[in-house]
Amino acid sequence: MSINKEIKKITTHTLQKLKSGGEKISMITAYDFSFAKLFDKAGIDVILVGDSAGNVMAGYETTVPVTLEQMIYHAQCVVRGTDRSLVVVDMPFGSYQSNVDTAVASAIRIMKETGAHAVKMEGGEEIVESVKKIVSAGIPVMGHLGLTPQSIYKFGTYQVRAKDEAEAARLREDAQLLQQAGCFAVVLEKIPAQLAKEVSESLSIPTIGIGAGAFCNGQVLVMHDLLGINQEFKPRFLRQYLNLEEQITTAVKHYIRDVKSADFPGEHESY
Ligand code: KIV
Repeated sequence: MSINKEIKKITTHTLQKLKSGGEKISMITAYDFSFAKLFDKAGIDVILVGDSAGNVMAGYETTVPVTLEQMIYHAQCVVRGTDRSLVVVDMPFGSYQSNVDTAVASAIRIMKETGAHAVKMEGGEEIVESVKKIVSAGIPVMGHLGLTPQSIYKFGTYQVRAKDEAEAARLREDAQLLQQAGCFAVVLEKIPAQLAKEVSESLSIPTIGIGAGAFCNGQVLVMHDLLGINQEFKPRFLRQYLNLEEQITTAVKHYIRDVKSADFPGEHESY
């Protein structure tokens, strides 16, 4: 029997227990009430209100323009749809990088105004002081290393990170620093599987991978990607469970056909 089936509400401690018991952690993004409700009922462990909302909800090219107000709005919608899953909210670009006080104030706003359970922050050594202060304020923090999309203009590409030894060594060190600072888990994005394995084994807190191979303690995917809403986006790390782009397009085409032909609404669909 899986550990998490017996649990009424997933907490950061549950994730720790899942890692200790060798059970993988499932995580998916959501940005609104209806999908959050479906994912929660399906039994997902963690719902991430990702700043990927900037891409998939707002149509921006990067996550950089996403604001704290937008994240708070999405998180409020998700929390209203969730009974059991742990809800983690991305702190958007600009809400924590400038100084510790700004970071703490942003994290407090997210927790007070949304009812979410934790925040996520991108970066290593450079955010450690902020992580410590946020954790000491009583707010659980999930870290995020590897390909950190808020730094896309520094990286220049969405290619796999930490392929060279210098960057891999930095990442190993950053993972330890985040754990020491009090993070309850760390997302590892788009790094070699062997490096993710090493980091996962060296940390006592869980790692959640995306494009980081099979050895992480859990996996996360963006909901639009796993549901196949955009068939143009098919990176190697993605497993698509549906082709919603095709299904939605076909459904809407049928609706248009029925309206145009005056087939809809019929007598049984009228008052
Ligand atoms: O914003 C997001 O959706 C994320 C995941 C890809 C980890 O950070």
